[in-house]
Amino acid sequence: MAIFDEHRHAETTIVAYERTSEQAPPGPVVLDGRLRFVPLILHERIRQKVSELAMIVNSEYENLNPILIGVLNGSFIFLADLIREVTIPCEMDFIKISSYEKAMRSSGVVKIKKDFDCQVRGRHILIVEDIIDSGRSIRYLKQKFLAEKPTSLKFMTLFLKPDSAEVDFPIDYVGFKIANDFIIGYGLDHAQRWRNLKDVYVLSNADALDEKEIDLT
Ligand code: IMP
Ligand code: MG
Repeated sequence: MAIFDEHRHAETTIVAYERTSEQAPPGPVVLDGRLRFVPLILHERIRQKVSELAMIVNSEYENLNPILIGVLNGSFIFLADLIREVTIPCEMDFIKISSYEKAMRSSGVVKIKKDFDCQVRGRHILIVEDIIDSGRSIRYLKQKFLAEKPTSLKFMTLFLKPDSAEVDFPIDYVGFKIANDFIIGYGLDHAQRWRNLKDVYVLSNADALDEKEIDLT
């Protein structure tokens, strides 16, 4: 149930601030059952970052007519904002994958829910992710897209968690490095909800998590 009327607890904010090195912004708390989410990054800061990332795309892909491929569902808001700041000719497509596990981690068993439609061979491909956690999804995507023989294949993610260190290749473009916490908002969900929040919130009481099957998309 959406409740926006509780005020942020100062101590929780400090925890979020210290754990993420981000300046914890003021704002309402989001309560989802026993889960409690506090503001982490406000929309204006995200907007600035998206604009910086778009400028990188503009300079790196000038005259290359890249295809930006969004990984659904999480990246839909990020990609929509990003592409409107991109000023060079480009194309876009989506792929939808999911991985299942208890709690909030991906299992590495990735399923394609919607495949891409574009011709990848001979093209410059930029995969656009919302967040990389273990990196298993992105590792799967790398193999899948390399098999199609693109001219270049790069990865952009808005958020990167430290556990992704287990990915054995560099992520080319990263928006925010965050702590090993669970976040929602700006396209990111918990159990498919909260994608519509403009700001990003971090779970402040991870011990209250339910061990239930969640479809990570
Ligand atoms: P990975 O395969 O472990 O890198 O998981 C990546 C996917 O898990 C992301 O694309 C998200 O769909 C989901 N995910 C990982 N961490 C979070 C989070 O903090 N909030 C919401 N979704 C997440
Ligand atoms: Mg995702």
